[in-house]
Order: sequence, then structure tokens, then C-alpha cells
Amino acid sequence: MSSQRYSRALLLGANALRSVARQQVRQKCSACSSCSSSRRLSLAAAARQQAATKEAPPKPKTVVSSTLENDFLTVKFGDGSFSEMPFMWLRDNCQCPSCFSSGALGRTFLMENLNIDVQATSVKEIESGILVKWSDGHTSEYTGKWLYDRAFTPSARAQHRNRYALRREPWGADHQLKEFDYYTMIKDDKVLLDWLLTMERKGSAMIKNTPDRDIAGPEIIEHIAYVKQSHYGPHSPVINRPNTNNVAFSNAKLGMHNDLPQYEQMPGIIFIQCVKQHQGTGGESVISDGLFAAESLRRNHPDAFKILTTTDAYFWDKGHANYSWEMDEFYKISKMPILTLNSDNEVIRVAVNNAIRDSHLDLPSHKVKSFYVAMKLLNDILYDNSVRFKMDAGDMMTLDNVRCLHGREGYEAFSERHVESSYLDWDEARCRRRRLQEKLGVFV
Ligand code: OGA
Ligand code: ZN
Ligand code: ZN
Repeated sequence: MSSQRYSRALLLGANALRSVARQQVRQKCSACSSCSSSRRLSLAAAARQQAATKEAPPKPKTVVSSTLENDFLTVKFGDGSFSEMPFMWLRDNCQCPSCFSSGALGRTFLMENLNIDVQATSVKEIESGILVKWSDGHTSEYTGKWLYDRAFTPSARAQHRNRYALRREPWGADHQLKEFDYYTMIKDDKVLLDWLLTMERKGSAMIKNTPDRDIAGPEIIEHIAYVKQSHYGPHSPVINRPNTNNVAFSNAKLGMHNDLPQYEQMPGIIFIQCVKQHQGTGGESVISDGLFAAESLRRNHPDAFKILTTTDAYFWDKGHANYSWEMDEFYKISKMPILTLNSDNEVIRVAVNNAIRDSHLDLPSHKVKSFYVAMKLLNDILYDNSVRFKMDAGDMMTLDNVRCLHGREGYEAFSERHVESSYLDWDEARCRRRRLQEKLGVFV
């Protein structure tokens, strides 16, 4: 609505109120004995109402005005914010039934039919938002809310960034794992949402009172979404296996690592369930925030940070099944840097695993030493800022496997220690978080 139209509407509203007030006065007059006082009251109430109507601000997500200039439509919203909306973007996102499927929530308009230089020939404010006419003869309607939610303003962009993924909060040696109860997480969606939010922000949590079943991990993962399988199957008994096909399935000490970096798509979240703990010394856990460590490396050792973000390592895993549910024969090779950056230079994946890291290096020999120096520095920072504890039977630690690292102390060969590991991907976890936020009306 243009500002002219907006004040015209106010005027019309005020006129309507005045006539209601007159009506009230007339009704009072015929019904009461003290006519003059009720008349005064009635007029005062009407004046108050009138003032309130005049001051009532427009709803934040309505279009208050819209203008066309130089390839942009500029929209002013009810909350006073403005956004420039580029013509070709608006045309590309026409919401009419021939350009967009409201059932499938997907664009049917094709890139080949988009003219990058398309011009808006007119814009008109309507009850729901705006109506735009285009130089290609098409007409599009956009609601105020649709435009407001997609405004090119820092706040609207930040809001959608949060919907995509929550801001991670790095932690150091004083970190305390937030605790959740296994069955409460399954029964109470609010608790499940809290766990999902915690995992996105802190990348770590502890689930207590896990039932004494080796498939307790897959069971809770299935309640959230789907198990992410690997060639080790839907879950792995982490015990000291005879003829083991993985160093983790032995009684050896495991240095700080992520699970399965031999997969280009490493599992997003790892569930490490303690079914039975080793009695006596051994089997303790250590965890560290790879994001915290990487940022410390970036600040204090920029050359090492550069090497780890630009040098690919190979990770590999070749072997045979130990159990019927594992793949008969497997041979994985992945290639990725130890620290992966996104286009905003944020660390989005940490890949550390000494057992799985390949001896092959696609590097000239003179670059090898500085690569090792950088890996060792990162390892030192991870341990310097780590948290140590020993899980009890019934504990299930959950970690963001592309961010947080974990390790294990070695233990005696003939131990009843039994840990189970299983995985859930981040796409599924974030998907569940968004749906629960909508269902419970919890937005952060
Ligand atoms: C693993 C692992 C932890 C443990 O299997 O990859 O890290 O406590 N296990 O045994
Ligand atoms: Zn259209
Ligand atoms: Zn592990």
C-alpha cells in the first residue's frame, strides 16, 4: 500500500468510527435518564478509539510502499525496513501456478526462459502485497510476508541462515556435556528438540539411561530419522575382536579421531554407547572440539592452518567382514583436507584419524615435513583443550562427527568392555530440528 493509500484508509477508518460513536450516543440517549453525562463518556471513548486507530502501526510484514528504479523494486515494510529486490530475482521467483508448483513447493519456471534483463513495467499495491507487470508480458503477485521473509536485509538473511544451520559455539577443556535421558528424548519432543539444538551448537551431549541392548543407538536414531550405514553395517560392536578389520575394534589406545573419514560423506553424528565398561584402568574417553582447535590454529599458526586447509590427505579402509551384517569385501579411498572450509572461510569439516589416514600422499616430497608439523600442532591443541571421562554402562555419548574428535585409552586384551557405535546424518538431524521448531513454535 502506498503511503497515500495508507492515510486514505486511516481517514476512512476514522470516519467509520465517528459514525459508530454517533450511533452509540443516539442509543444511550434513548435508553438512559442522565443523557448529558453518557453523551460525554461516549464521545470520549470514541475519541480514544479514533486516536488508537490512527496510531495503530501497520503489521510488520505488510508492504507499505513500493517503487521501481534501475533494475530494482524497492519495498518498504510495515516495520519500517526496506529491501531492494532485483527484477530478475523477482521474475525467477514468480509464485503463479505456471511458474511455481504450490503442491511440490518447487519452481517450474525454467532458467532457459528467464531473461536476465527483464524489466518490471509497473507495480501496484494490493490487499495481500504487490502485483508486478513484466516486460515479457507476464504478471506476478507476491504477498508481503513472502517478500519480507526473503528481504535482502542483514536481519532477514541471518534469520534464514539460522533455519539452515545454527551458529556453533566452540568449547574448551572446561566444557561440560549436557545430559539427556534416553526414554525422555523418545517420549518428549521438547527434550528431543533440546538435544538437536545442543548438538548443533555444542556438537556434543551425553544420553543417560540407555537400555542394555546393542541396538539402542539405531533405535533412538530411527526415532529421529534414519541410521547412516557404512560397510560395517547399521551399528558396530566395538570390542576386542579376533582378526579385527579395524584398529578401533581392538583393545589399542585410539588417538583423537573422527569416525569414517574414509567416506567422502563422513557420518554427521556419532552415537557411542557404553554397553559394558572395562573394570580398572583403561577404556577412558577423551573428547575435544575441532572447531575450537582449528580457530586456535588459525589465530596462532596461520601457516599451519593454511597447509591443513589446502593439502589433501587420503584416508583408506580395505578389508573383509568380521560379521554377517558387514560388507564381504570393502576398499574405500577418500581424499580431503584435514580442515575443510566453506565459501565464508568457516571450518565445516575436521578429518583426523591416524589409523585410517593413508600412507600415500599426493605431494612433492619437500612439502611433507610442513604438513606433518601442521598435523602435529593441531593434535597438540586438541589434547590441550580436551575433556576426559569414563563412560558407565548406560551412557551414550553423541558427537558432531565432522566437528568434534574423540579418543579412547587402551585396555586389557581380555576385557568384557563392550561399546556400540552408530550414526545419523546432519541432513536428517537438521530436518527434524526444523520440523520440531515449527510444531512446538520454538524459534531461536
Ligand atoms: C571407535 C571408537 C570409542 C571407545 O570405535 O571408533 O572411538 O570408547 N570407540 O571404544
Ligand atoms: Zn508466473
Ligand atoms: Zn571412534
